[in-house]
Amino acid sequence: MVRSGNKLKRILSIAPLASAVAWAQGVFAQVPQSVFAPAGPVAQTQLNLLSLTLWIAIGIFVVVGSILLYTVIRFRARPGDPIPKQIQGNTTLEVIWTVIPIIILIVIAVPTVRDAFGLASPPPVDDVLNVRVIGYQWWWAFEYPDLGIVTANELRVPVGKVVNLTLESNDVIHSFWVPRLAGKMDVIPNRVNTMWFVAEEAGIYYGQCAEFCGTSHANMRFRVIAQPENEFHAWVEGRRAVEAFSPANDLVARGQAIFESTGTCFACHNVDGTAANGQVGPDLTDFASRTTIAAGLLANTPENLARWLRDPQAVKPGALMPRLPLSDDDIQALTAFLYSLE
Ligand code: CUA
Repeated sequence: MVRSGNKLKRILSIAPLASAVAWAQGVFAQVPQSVFAPAGPVAQTQLNLLSLTLWIAIGIFVVVGSILLYTVIRFRARPGDPIPKQIQGNTTLEVIWTVIPIIILIVIAVPTVRDAFGLASPPPVDDVLNVRVIGYQWWWAFEYPDLGIVTANELRVPVGKVVNLTLESNDVIHSFWVPRLAGKMDVIPNRVNTMWFVAEEAGIYYGQCAEFCGTSHANMRFRVIAQPENEFHAWVEGRRAVEAFSPANDLVARGQAIFESTGTCFACHNVDGTAANGQVGPDLTDFASRTTIAAGLLANTPENLARWLRDPQAVKPGALMPRLPLSDDDIQALTAFLYSLE
């Protein structure tokens, strides 16, 4: 009896389990889109809830699993055993296993309801950044209504500032998710949802559409780029300075001419200061300052841009950007033009 008591204690010991869980969390925290590496108060609050539920679930698993294992071994049928005493119903046990789950659910429900309401509206501060997010198949538009800026797929924000988002969809249901900053929020046609976050450290935070929305759902990525306040303002000022685009050289001028000619880029894309004011595809006014193209799929390099211009669907299946009959010279000129857009 003493021996099996020790055995039970060993089975019940959660020290190895706790270190296994800590190890797993450490590993998951390394991946770019990890809820285990929160970088702001919203994600931190949500992780606290997740951890509470996780540890309660682990506790239940250990207790129930241990009792089950112990019982199966200790009371297993041996050859020649008589039929055990037949029992039907046990009021005490039934009360216990009804009351314990009720207590557990209350322990989970109280902080969950508190935080769900707490996170529903942003902190009451005046100094906020407002951003209108619009989901498209399969990219993201980011509009800064107070700053007069429109950009795509890379959401620049100042570190430490409350960012208020309104989320709308141009077509189908998407979901806006930056795991290190805040949980998912659905982006629904004909409806405006809201959410907020604060990025407490400068850096790039990876985001991803989290609601299946068609062929290139998995390719509907984006980034939140959190910058120190002065760098963010430098970017804002740079964007505001665009009035009339003047090409720096002949190649850029040729690229601009192709961009603005009938049946090409300008019908869908806007570039401030040029004749291009299409509203179907991403705004390209600050194209050269973006780190990626094709909704976060490719690094923004001349090789990748050429690859994209040659055959968009080969890069992003289902992409609405048509395959234009562009010669290598055309692509070279367009590339020169696009990289002059800072
Ligand atoms: Cu948009 Cu999935």
